[in-house]
Amino acid sequence: MTQVTPQSDLVIKSSDWEPKIIAFLCNWCSYAGADLTGVSRIQYPPNIRIVRVPCSGRISPYYILKSLQVGWDGLLVSGCHPGDCHYLTGNLIARRRFAVLKDLLTFMGIEPERVNFSWVSAAEGERFAKIVKKVVEQVKKVGPIRKMVKTL
Ligand code: FES
Repeated sequence: MTQVTPQSDLVIKSSDWEPKIIAFLCNWCSYAGADLTGVSRIQYPPNIRIVRVPCSGRISPYYILKSLQVGWDGLLVSGCHPGDCHYLTGNLIARRRFAVLKDLLTFMGIEPERVNFSWVSAAEGERFAKIVKKVVEQVKKVGPIRKMVKTL
């Protein structure tokens, strides 16, 4: 089975398709957890590209929608565990914000499985790898993003 990507006229086999996932990781916990994953040589799918942010509360829904619009198939936002946020409540605000955003995505016809939120501490390298594997599997199931991608 073949399909045409919306961004180009390239014809690719669907079995060759791999999701592109952008991960916004808080500097203090999740980024350090991802670093530990690498230092510990724990394997995880190479589908994600990491953006280090000061706090998960810093991620605006605009970044999420814009990421989907420019063609990222899925997203992961990860912050400190409740009570560990260096800015006190940034992670709690983020969690609340993403619960509402998922409802908005569903309303817009975008699969909510594309947007994921998690807590990962600096000591949880293995947990980070498991979360990435789970997110990649979920996004693979829903397929490439098409609805929001802006074609010129
Ligand atoms: Fe990590 Fe706020 S500093 S979530």
